Amino acid sequence: NHEFETIRVRQEGRVAVITLHRPEALNALNQMLMQETVTAVTSFDRDPEVGAIVITGSEKAFAAGADIKEMAPKTSVDMYLDDWFAAWDRLAQARKPIIAAVAGYALGGGCELAMACDILIAADTAKFGQPEIKLGVIPGIGGSQRLTRAVGKAKAMDLCLTGRTMDADEAERAGLVARIVPAEELLATALTVAGQIAGMSMPVAMMAKEAVDRSYETTLTEGIRFERRLFHSLFASQDQKEGMAAFVEKRSPTFVHR
Ligand code: CAA
Repeated sequence: NHEFETIRVRQEGRVAVITLHRPEALNALNQMLMQETVTAVTSFDRDPEVGAIVITGSEKAFAAGADIKEMAPKTSVDMYLDDWFAAWDRLAQARKPIIAAVAGYALGGGCELAMACDILIAADTAKFGQPEIKLGVIPGIGGSQRLTRAVGKAKAMDLCLTGRTMDADEAERAGLVARIVPAEELLATALTVAGQIAGMSMPVAMMAKEAVDRSYETTLTEGIRFERRLFHSLFASQDQKEGMAAFVEKRSPTFVHR
């Protein structure tokens, strides 16, 4: 923690927790928070003791967007030369499952960060939106793309063009959110889900993530072929032998590769 200013990190068993921590700015994503979050995710992703990562914010805000005050004076050339937000792309390259535990505002970059994670668990207080249009810009960390894939064109257009927010119920109905829980149970639920994943065979969980992600990048035929190859390859693993033997012997599996 001493090395980070804008986030807090801790580990609970095989689950790493990253808490966005800029309470004075509703966790607005400034450049430092971006660098620190990406650094933490990258290092947990490489850590053999970590099986899943949770990213969360505060009760009031997961994150209220990119830092508007930091961006306000920039020119187009500044943004281009700095390749503003490009570091966030590294988050999507993480191979281990990442859970976003969202309470309160997840707006603009906050919504985009949550969507870049693999499973989005929302408190009943969560509010999602892409309000950039009200600032004279559009989403810049993938919102127009990931939101459209998650909820379809109708709602993505509605949200990106009006800047309105969507509550947790609407977000779940639309397919953005995997589960809604009462706010006071948010972190415990996220930790339980992350703990379940971290208890699986790690390479298998990583391949499951890779296979689902592939569906966004390719045709159905190629995606199914990719899945089938991974599936076949798993029969070379001890964990497939153990997992199936445990079922037959009516016991719980003890996976080797965790
Ligand atoms: N950037 C910088 N500072 C922010 C911020 C942001 N995105 N969101 C909130 N803050 C700051 C506020 O300026 C305020 O600071 P001061 O006390 O120093 O004035 C502090 O956080 C608390 O915020 P509010 O007083 O506004 O809190 P509120 O409860 O009245 O309102 C809110 C909450 C509705 C979320 C409001 O803060 C808000 O509208 N925030 C901006 C939301 C937004 O437009 N997000 C998109 C940003 S652009 C973007 O994300 C681009 C992209 O695609 C990556």
